[in-house]
Amino acid sequence: MELLIVGIGQLVTPQARGMELAAHERCYIKIRDGKIAEFGPLDRAPAPSPPHLRELDARGGVVLPGLVDPHTHAVFAETREEEFLRRCRGERYTSGGIRTTVAAVRRASEEDLYQSAKRFLLEMLCQGTTTVEVKSGYGLDLENELKLLRVIKRLDEDLPLDLVPTFLGAHAVPEGKSSSEYVREVLAMIPEVKRLGLAEFCDVFCEPGFFSVEESRKILSACRAAGLKLKIHADELEWSGGAELAAELGAVSADHLLRASDEGLKRLKEAGVIPVLLPGTAFTLNAPFPPVRKMLEAGLPVALATDFNPGTCLISSMLFIVTLAVMRMGMTVEEALIAATRNGAWALGLQDRGVIAPGMLADLVILDLDNYKQIPYFIGHDRVRYVLKRGEVVYAHPSLCQD
Ligand code: NIG
Ligand code: FE
Repeated sequence: MELLIVGIGQLVTPQARGMELAAHERCYIKIRDGKIAEFGPLDRAPAPSPPHLRELDARGGVVLPGLVDPHTHAVFAETREEEFLRRCRGERYTSGGIRTTVAAVRRASEEDLYQSAKRFLLEMLCQGTTTVEVKSGYGLDLENELKLLRVIKRLDEDLPLDLVPTFLGAHAVPEGKSSSEYVREVLAMIPEVKRLGLAEFCDVFCEPGFFSVEESRKILSACRAAGLKLKIHADELEWSGGAELAAELGAVSADHLLRASDEGLKRLKEAGVIPVLLPGTAFTLNAPFPPVRKMLEAGLPVALATDFNPGTCLISSMLFIVTLAVMRMGMTVEEALIAATRNGAWALGLQDRGVIAPGMLADLVILDLDNYKQIPYFIGHDRVRYVLKRGEVVYAHPSLCQD
C-alpha cells in the first residue's frame, strides 16, 4: 500500500544523530507499507497517482515526525481537582495524592479504567502523539498492578497509538505498610509481571519519602535480572542520587532530574542514559525547571515528556510541552522538537521512529502552520490537521470534513 503526501510547506525532522533540526521547504513524502519510502522537493514528486497510490494534500502545512511521549501515568481512576486547587493556593505536594488515586483504582473496574484512559490517549493522538509510554503504579498490590497493566495492553491493541508498558509497583508505599515490607512485595510481583509479558520497562520513584537509593537499587536490579528495561523517577522533589543510580544500573532513561547534581549528569552521559524532562510537572508544581542547558552542553540527548497524571500534571499535549520547554526552560525550538520526537523514541529504546527518513515508520503529524517556529508561538492553538500512524491517517481535524 502506498500513500503520497503532497503540498508540504515545510518538512521538519531531526537528523539520525546530533541536535540539528533539518527543515526542507515544499516537499512530498512517499510512504510504502507503513514506512517512509522517500521524500524530496515537490517538483520531483512521482507522476500523477496510479490507482494503487493514494494522495494526501498537506495544504502547505508543516510536517513533523509523530510526537513521542516517553513518560505518562495515563491509566487512573477519578480526578484530584480539589487537591490541585489547594496546591494553587500554596499547599505542598505530598504522597497523599498518590494514595487517593490508589484507593480509587482499587475500587474501579477494569472497564472503567479502560474507558477513562482511552479518552485521554485519544486526546493525545489528536494532538499529534503517536507513541506513548504508560506506567502502572496506582495499584500498589499484585492484583491491582496487574489490572492496570492489562488495561494498558488492551489499549495498545485497540488504539492506533503504540503504547509502551512500564511496571511502576514502587510508586509509593501503600498505607499501613512499612517500606521494607512493601519492597519485599514489589520484588515478589516482578516474576508474575514478567511471566504475563505485561511490561517492557520497570520504573521506581526514587525520592526521599518514597523509595531510597538502596531500595530502588534492589527493585531495579531484580527487574533487570528478569529481563525488563529500566527507568527511574530521579531527583524530582529533592536530590535523591537517582541519576547516579540510573547510570550505575544502565537504565535506558532517568526522568524528572529537576534537582540532579553535576556529578549525576556527568554519569548519565558516560553511561548513555537518556534524560527525560517533564516541564509540565515543574510548571504545575511551581517548582524549578531542570538545568537543561547544562545537560545539552554536556552532550546529553535530552527528551521531553508530559508526565500526564492526575496529581502533578494534567497536560496531555506534547506540543504544549514544547512551548513550555522553549518559554520556561531555555530550550531552542529546534532542540525541543528533537526532544519531543527522536530523543523521546530513544528514551523508550526505539530507533525506528522520530525521524523522517527512508525506512523509518511513517508516523507523522501535519500542522496548519507556516513554519515550525510557530509551534511554541501559537500557544495552545488547535492546529493539528492530520495524524498518521504507520502510514494510515488516524486523525483528521473536523474542519477538514466540512470543505
Ligand atoms: O510523576 N512522580 C511520581 N508520580 C507522579 C505523580 C503522581 C500523582 O501525584 O498521582 C509524578 O509526578
Ligand atoms: Fe512521573
